[in-house]
Amino acid sequence: MTTGNDTLAELRAQFPVVQRLAYLNAGTNGPIATAAADAVAAQQQRETEEGRGGMPFFLAYQEQADRLRAGYAAYLHATPEEVALTTSTTDGVSRILLALNLGAGDEILTSDEEHPGVYGPLVAQRARGVSVRTAPFASLAEAIAPATKLVVASHVSWRSGAYAPIAALAAAEPLLLLDGAQGVGAVPTDVHALGADFYAGAGQKWLCGPTGTGMLWIHPRVRERLAVPSPGYLNLADAGAGLDAVPREDAQAFDTPSLSSTGIVHAVAMLDLFAASGWDAIHARAHDLAELAVAQLRERGREVLARDRTTLVTWREAGAPEQTEKLLEAGVVVRHLPDEDVLRASFGGWSSEQDLERLLDALPA
Ligand SMILES: Cc1ncc(COP(=O)(O)O)c(C=O)c1O
Repeated sequence: MTTGNDTLAELRAQFPVVQRLAYLNAGTNGPIATAAADAVAAQQQRETEEGRGGMPFFLAYQEQADRLRAGYAAYLHATPEEVALTTSTTDGVSRILLALNLGAGDEILTSDEEHPGVYGPLVAQRARGVSVRTAPFASLAEAIAPATKLVVASHVSWRSGAYAPIAALAAAEPLLLLDGAQGVGAVPTDVHALGADFYAGAGQKWLCGPTGTGMLWIHPRVRERLAVPSPGYLNLADAGAGLDAVPREDAQAFDTPSLSSTGIVHAVAMLDLFAASGWDAIHARAHDLAELAVAQLRERGREVLARDRTTLVTWREAGAPEQTEKLLEAGVVVRHLPDEDVLRASFGGWSSEQDLERLLDALPA
């Protein structure tokens, strides 16, 4: 009989990097499985030997892109028509900010602990005359004002691993754009149940896809309020109509104009692998290990930042940047966060108690 533990042991065996290192930084970039590397090599070889000029290549590319969209949609409990393929979380956030076409007199509310990948597009909104205001992450909903047209918040904070007060934000009047960089693949995510209008996520983190993949979910109820910022031919309903062409009605209108074919097959191979292991088991393992890490760090006198049952654990550590280097020398991959003496460890379904032990052993007493 195969148990959940066997399945996760098989999953872990798929990742060469975790055989060598205590790889605890999927919050930056997830580990890559052999199945994905093999799929990329096979794709590269096919293109090298058979060329990329014919209809079979294009049809196969399209089929893989459809599978990727369907895989992202399944994770998000959405339909493929509601999901755009992007190159990153930042890309998805930018596309929505541009599509909303806000201006002077409009306000965007965001939190004081968002990632620079979100602050960047918001800075550009300021330059367009939009007022952008911040409030504390945990009490963001109380800061909503009459002028607030949009709230931008992380589903899960990249700093602490805490959830945003999503129910209160979703119940409020303004549109809600969730940054799902630390959500999708890390925690169960049902975008309709969350009550958001938009969800921008990363492919390269908890879904272990390549850099340059991501997704953007758009609630159908808001699609009509959006202007497609910069359509390419695959975003058009009728690409042959020249200057009379109109954008597609579904979320594909917001797809990035092109993605690498090898990148797509990598991302699809990872989604297939995770689906075969089962997301419930993956989440349970990752969250249990994170809780164990919290308990053991506290036992060693560390102050852990307030968090929820997610994949991230952040704690205060004197000289955090230097400690990151020292841990790497000991084969432990974590990160420090800018501006604060804190370290962050990321636990996935591929992680094990041995990884945690290696981390604890390598920390200063
Ligand atoms: C919460 C959060 N938002 C946005 C980003 C930027 O992600 P991307 O590189 O996919 O744009 C990150 C990256 O770490 C993140 O943690």
